[in-house]
Amino acid sequence: MNTETSGQGALWKGGAGNAWVDEQAVIDQMFGPIETLLVETAASSKVERALDVGCGTGGTTLALARRLGTGARCTGIDISEPMIASARRRAALEGLPVDFVCADAQHHHFEPASVDVVLSRFGVMFFDDPVAAFANLRQATRPGGRLCFVAWRAAEDNPFMTAAEHAARPLLPGLPQRQPDEAGQFGFAREARVRDILEHAGWEGTKVERLDVQCRFPESELTGYLSRMGPVGRAIAGLDAAMQQRVIETMRPAFNAFVTGDTVSFRAACWVASAQAG
Ligand SMILES: C[S@@+](CC[C@H](N)C(=O)[O-])C[C@H]1O[C@@H](n2cnc3c(N)ncnc32)[C@H](O)[C@@H]1O
Repeated sequence: MNTETSGQGALWKGGAGNAWVDEQAVIDQMFGPIETLLVETAASSKVERALDVGCGTGGTTLALARRLGTGARCTGIDISEPMIASARRRAALEGLPVDFVCADAQHHHFEPASVDVVLSRFGVMFFDDPVAAFANLRQATRPGGRLCFVAWRAAEDNPFMTAAEHAARPLLPGLPQRQPDEAGQFGFAREARVRDILEHAGWEGTKVERLDVQCRFPESELTGYLSRMGPVGRAIAGLDAAMQQRVIETMRPAFNAFVTGDTVSFRAACWVASAQAG
């Protein structure tokens, strides 16, 4: 099966991709600490070619390009046209020499052994065949080249990410239930599964470590974020304005615990995974 035409591909090319474009500034602010960690890890040894997988609107790719300067070439790959278009606009505005490729990273033909470091911020949990996808990324990586990505731990460990669907479910009974190990946000929740995928894909020296990051953004952005993002954002997109408002008012109190003054703050419970191409 080709991810391009499967559920995840269609999702990111459409509603989810557009929502991420609209909320790009808020998302880059809240996940800024993870961007910094990935950029510093990637830049910790010599890099001439870097590949950001599931780069979305390009925040991490652009930050790495700024950090590495003119001696390195950074490429971002993403399946979503709207997100890649946004990433290209951002690169052009800054005049950064970054390539953004719109393609499925599981199937894309990368130049073999061409990349020094593959990185990703939450962009690698969506493949329909993750072993094939990570084998493809390994083939793109030169011997001794590195992989480093951040993925979510379990939904139960990330209450901020699931509060909206818990609160809205009585009004939206058709909301999808998260299934263990399914492609999606929490597809890499099980550490053993992450190790298994990387090892079967031929990566060596796999490390999967817990990473807890405090993420923050302005409270003034919370309603906009909730009404666009995640399963609830997608579910209410087709509803009339009155029903959308009702869902938003029902969800909002569930987020009081995350608001202090004018700031939303939550802990992102993640894995940081790293490995090497042999
Ligand atoms: C959670 S978003 C993360 C975006 C970005 N890395 C960031 O942190 O802002 C996941 C991204 O993975 C992309 N994606 C999903 N499946 C993909 C695939 N098979 N190949 C390339 N990108 C994919 C989506 O389009 C989306 O941009």
